Amino acid sequence: MTITRTQVAIIGAGPSGLLLGQLLHKAGIDAVIVERVSGEYVLGRIRAGILEQVCIDLLDEAGVGARMHKQGLIHEGIEMLFDGRRHRVDLTKYSDGKHVMVYGQTELTHDLMNARQAAGLTTIYEVKNTAVHDFDSVKPYVTYEKDGLTHRIDCDIIAGCDGFHGVCRASAPRTAIKEYEKVYPFGWLGLLSDTPPVNDELIYINSERGFALCSQRSKTRSRYYLQVPLTDKVEEWTDDAFWQELKLRLDQQGRDELVTGPSLEKSIAPLRSFVTEPLRFGRMFLAGDAGHIVPPTGAKGLNLAATDVKYLYDAIVEYYQDKSEAGLDNYSTRCLGRIWRAERFSWWFTQLMHRFPDDGAIIAKFQSAELSYLLHSEAGLRTIAENYVGLPLDFADTAELM
Ligand code: APR
Ligand code: PHB
Repeated sequence: MTITRTQVAIIGAGPSGLLLGQLLHKAGIDAVIVERVSGEYVLGRIRAGILEQVCIDLLDEAGVGARMHKQGLIHEGIEMLFDGRRHRVDLTKYSDGKHVMVYGQTELTHDLMNARQAAGLTTIYEVKNTAVHDFDSVKPYVTYEKDGLTHRIDCDIIAGCDGFHGVCRASAPRTAIKEYEKVYPFGWLGLLSDTPPVNDELIYINSERGFALCSQRSKTRSRYYLQVPLTDKVEEWTDDAFWQELKLRLDQQGRDELVTGPSLEKSIAPLRSFVTEPLRFGRMFLAGDAGHIVPPTGAKGLNLAATDVKYLYDAIVEYYQDKSEAGLDNYSTRCLGRIWRAERFSWWFTQLMHRFPDDGAIIAKFQSAELSYLLHSEAGLRTIAENYVGLPLDFADTAELM
């Protein structure tokens, strides 16, 4: 067995692990990342690409924001289509000047990987049998296998950035953890294509055939989603069938303006709301999808991961520089205040925009009435805009005052 030492052992080289590693590096704190799959595999995951200002600022703080600012698209509004009519939500007007950035998670992950490689930092890919040990002590360590050998990393802190299916949350004592979960009775069939977006801004669609979303990655690359039954298999969906169904859920303007083309990627993702409490177990801290999952409707997954990482980074810096554990002690509470607000919005938006199999026609009428009220009311428009663009970073410190 080889034994090495670092200050922070990060499990997972997705956005959470890479962003934490980059921030710690800038603070002069040593961190090693171990990752189960290859870097190419990580980059092959197609995920949402809507960045809140907090996430934008964090990428700048990490020194990896240049390409995002160059290639990302500022969006100041979204469209909501129901009962055959579009309604624009002016995000900037109703959030006191904020906006979101459209910039694919793949691109962001690429930027983080490039920065880590350029700095000569250690990411060990394609490891097997990662395990976390003694995290209830002040001398935790991680073991993993690679090239037929077992390796050990001694550290002060373990950052569980290993996603929903990772080993860190699974290693927490069952008596110390509470998990909250809601699984939705449908999935999202996503398609990526090198075609110009059907609209300048995103269109969220509640149609009698189900939810659809018209999103984008650039002026020449589009991302579309269709709500589909959980029993659907992606191989059953030809490109033509996808485009045909999307047209049925669009309005006439959309049908006239939609540019179709061959899919670059197609996949079906399940939807769930999931939260772990707490997010800290001794010297092991969960961040990102390792601690929570949102249905993608509100585009909160990446943004929640980013704020977890920011709070954990601040706490780790305080631990080493001020010899204080106050930030580590407050990490879980600080994250959860924000997480639950984003989970609530994502659930609410999902309930509002999707057709649930067991719902009767009356629920569709309720949805129509709620959408009509929200989109013709300053209070309604503000509640959509404030939640969509994201809560301020210091929100978690004032949650008890809300
Ligand atoms: N050992 C090492 N690495 C692991 C292990 C393990 N036992 N288990 C999982 N991993 C890796 C996965 O291969 C993955 O690359 O941890 C990484 C976790 O990355 P993500 O699942 O992308 O989670 P996170 O980094 O928190 O990013 C959250 O991803 O799922 C989206 O919507 C979500 O946009 C959000 C973002
Ligand atoms: C995406 O572009 O993948 C996307 C955008 C907005 C969402 C979900 C996904 O709400």
